[in-house]
Amino acid sequence: MRRITLSRYLIEEQREKGKINADLRLLIEVVARACKSIAIAIGKGGLGEGGGILGEAGSDNVQGEAQKKLDVLSNEIFLEANEWGGHLAGMASEEMELPHAIPNRYPQGEYLLLFDPLDGSSNIDINVSVGTIFSVLRCPEGADPTLQDAFLQPGTAQVAAGYAVYGPTTLLVLTVGDGVACFTLDREIGSFVLTEEKLRIPEETKEFAINMSNRRFWEAPVQRYVDELLAGKEGPRGKDFNMRWVASMVADVHRIMTRGGIFMYPLDSKIAAQGGKLRLMYEANPMAFIVEQAGGAATTGRQRIMDLQPNALHQRVPVILGSRNEVAVVAGYHAQD
Ligand code: AHG
Ligand code: MN
Ligand code: MN
Repeated sequence: MRRITLSRYLIEEQREKGKINADLRLLIEVVARACKSIAIAIGKGGLGEGGGILGEAGSDNVQGEAQKKLDVLSNEIFLEANEWGGHLAGMASEEMELPHAIPNRYPQGEYLLLFDPLDGSSNIDINVSVGTIFSVLRCPEGADPTLQDAFLQPGTAQVAAGYAVYGPTTLLVLTVGDGVACFTLDREIGSFVLTEEKLRIPEETKEFAINMSNRRFWEAPVQRYVDELLAGKEGPRGKDFNMRWVASMVADVHRIMTRGGIFMYPLDSKIAAQGGKLRLMYEANPMAFIVEQAGGAATTGRQRIMDLQPNALHQRVPVILGSRNEVAVVAGYHAQD
């Protein structure tokens, strides 16, 4: 069998398909290398001084969330890996209030990289899958990449997006707008190897993912939808549904990429003032791009996620994504509301 590494896959996307240029190829290779470093750090767990990578960093991020040591470390790994290659104009991260400027000593490139360096922070200390999410945009002509305005582009402007899952195996799932490919980290050789091409999300599903503890705070259309799923065979849907909630978006989305389903972090009255829980620029948009490229759909309930015009780097939005037909049912209930 022909073994296709990430490098080879990217070369082919560049040379044969003309989907990416050399700079974007380098960018993705560097991101993959950073993900490898994070995977290695995670693998060490509590080994090492002061509890290793586990535990609190003792600081808060701009969103007022307590940072874990691994949030801070993963952010540093991403910044350090991506600064010097010459492919980036700027970077923005969940863990930094403002965009990170590329130091003057390095050349500037045409791309902007946005990332959630460590997704699923609450799962680090209990040894459950966590991940990294990233999105790539072009820096608009004449825009200052040290200011957030350069980054405020709709999801439809993304040129690449991906996520890494640090689970029993480390996976990298990637789209450059030419379908979705999944790579598995071969730990002995140290490279990502293509293990699935053209991922497709099944259109029909019997599985949903939502944090049920928020039920009383949801809006009516989401309450109606989930109540109908829970009613099972005897209810209006006429079939039983199963539920899963890992509480790491990457792991929940990856399950949907693999066997279908619907993932929801809808608006609820507790978080209404902030617009939702998940962040548009480095969680919702890249996941929406990947899910759409795999034949699924992603909406806030009222609007396609990738059509939203962002107004802030750390903007939050409701997220409903996954199997196309189920997402359509939820969107339909919102339209009737
Ligand atoms: P992060 O760790 O990057 O802050 O993201 C956590 C997110 C997401 O991964 C997950 O779907 C959700 O928060 C879990 O929220 P609950 O704790 O409310 O279940
Ligand atoms: Mn996250
Ligand atoms: Mn995070």
